[in-house]
Amino acid sequence: MGRDRIKSLLVSGTPGRAAAIGGWVRSKRVSKSCAFLAVNDGSCHGTIQVVVDANSPEFSKLEQVGTGTSLRIRGQLVSSPAEGQSVELNAEHIEVLGLAGPDYPLQKKGHTLEFLRDHAHLRSRTTTFGAMFRLRNVLSRSVHDFFQSRGFLWAHSPILTSTDGEGAGEMFTVTHFDLNKIPKLENGQIDFAKDFFGKHAHLCVTGQLEAEFMALSMGDVYTFGPTFRAENSNTSRHLAEFWMIEPEMAFADLNDNIELAGDFFRFMLSAAIKECPEELQFFETFYKNIKVEELRAVADKKPARVTYTDAVDILQKSGQSFEYNVKWGMDLQSEHERFLCEKVFKSPVFVTDYPKDIKAFYMRLNPDEKTVAATDFLVPGVGELIGGSQREERLPQLEARMAELKIPKDDLQWYLDLRRFGTVPHAGFGLGFERMLLYCTGIGNIRDTIPCPRVPGLISF
Ligand code: 4AD
Ligand code: MG
Repeated sequence: MGRDRIKSLLVSGTPGRAAAIGGWVRSKRVSKSCAFLAVNDGSCHGTIQVVVDANSPEFSKLEQVGTGTSLRIRGQLVSSPAEGQSVELNAEHIEVLGLAGPDYPLQKKGHTLEFLRDHAHLRSRTTTFGAMFRLRNVLSRSVHDFFQSRGFLWAHSPILTSTDGEGAGEMFTVTHFDLNKIPKLENGQIDFAKDFFGKHAHLCVTGQLEAEFMALSMGDVYTFGPTFRAENSNTSRHLAEFWMIEPEMAFADLNDNIELAGDFFRFMLSAAIKECPEELQFFETFYKNIKVEELRAVADKKPARVTYTDAVDILQKSGQSFEYNVKWGMDLQSEHERFLCEKVFKSPVFVTDYPKDIKAFYMRLNPDEKTVAATDFLVPGVGELIGGSQREERLPQLEARMAELKIPKDDLQWYLDLRRFGTVPHAGFGLGFERMLLYCTGIGNIRDTIPCPRVPGLISF
C-alpha cells in the first residue's frame, strides 16, 4: 500500500511518471470537462492539484466528495499549466476512503483559532496547524542537531519526582490513593508513606536538578521533555504542560551560559528560516505579527545584554507609564520585559544579575550578596523565553539559602551531595519550546503551538 508523499511530488516529481497519493480534500472545483481537487497529506504546506476527466469512470465517484474527504489516488504526473505548482496529478484510479459530509466542522471558509481549539483533533488538517506542527518538528530536530554537534549528551530526566525543583510549590500531585479513602495521620495530615512511592510524588516542574548530577559526571548534557506546572495563570504564554530544553554545563559560568543560550536560540531560528520558508511566510502574511526578514536579522546578530539594575534604571527613566510601577527588587512584569526588548533594545536581550529574593534557591550568590548570577532572555512579542543561571556550587552558601527560604533539606540531600563530593562551577538554562514557537510564528496564543494544550479547565483532547 505504498504512497508518494505530496511533498516529494511537488519538490521533485517529474512529469510522465506514475504516482500514488493518500490525503484529504481541501477543496473541489468542477467544470464541464473535469474536476479539480486540492489534496493535502500533511507532508508540506501546499496541496497537489488532482485533475479528474469528466469522461473517465472515476468522475462519478466524486459526487459526494468534498472538503475533508479522504482519498487514495493513482495516476500520472503531468506538468501543470496552473501558476505556483510544477506538476499536477491526472487521476486514473480513485478510492474514496472516508466521506466527511456536510457535518464536517472544518469547511472551506476560514475558522477562528478559538473555534479550532474546540476541534483540536481536526485542526492539524488546516493550513495554520499543519504549518505549526511541521515547524514544531523542525525545531525539535534542531534542538538535537545543535547539542549533539557540540558534544552534549541527551539526558532523560524523570517526569515523576518527589522534589520541587523550583521551590515554587506549583506542582501537580501524583497519587495512587483511593480518593474517597485517603489515609491520614493522627494530626490530620495525609499519610503519604502509604502511597505508591511511599512519599508525596509530583509531576516534574523542571529536569534541572537531575541534569545537574548528569553534568557533574558526564560534562555537558541537555534534557528535552514535557514539564508540568500547576500555575493558575490563564495567560496567552502559560501552559500547564509544556516542553522545555534544559542544557547543563560543568566547568562553566554565567558568561558561558549566555553564550550558549544565544547560539542555541539563533541556531533554532536559522533552522526554522531555512527549513520552513513557506510556513513562516504563511504566518507573516496571514497573522501579520512577524516578518521573516526581521527574524533573519535577529538570527544573524548576537543578542543584547543588560543587568537587572541597569534595566530598572532604564525603565524608570523611560517616561513610560506601566500598570506596575518599577522598583528595584521587583520581579519584572511582562509589560516591562516587552518594553525592554521591543522599545529599548529593539532586539532580544539577556537581563542578568537579578535580586536574589525573586529568584530560585539554586542560583549562585554574587559577591554583592544582593544579586544572583541569573539571566532571563527576553524576546519581542513574547517576553521571557529562557531562564537560566550559574548554580550555587558552594555547600555553605547553598545550605544557608535553603534555610532562608525554608526549603526542606531532607529530600534534597542528594542535591547537596553534589556540592559535598567533587563540586565544580556549573551553569544551565531552560528554554520554553512553545514560547519559541510563539516567537517564530507570532500566532499570539501559546495554546495554538502544541497539539493538545493543557491549561486550567481544559484537558479534553
Ligand atoms: O524560568 P524557568 O521557570 O526556569 C527553570 O525551570 C529552570 N529550571 C531552567 C534551568 O535553569 N534549567 O522556566 C524556563 C522557561 C521559561 O523561560 C519559559 O520560556 C518556559 O520555561 N516556561 C513556560 N512555558 C510555558 N508555560 C509555562 N507555564 C512555563 N513556565 C516556564
Ligand atoms: Mg523564569
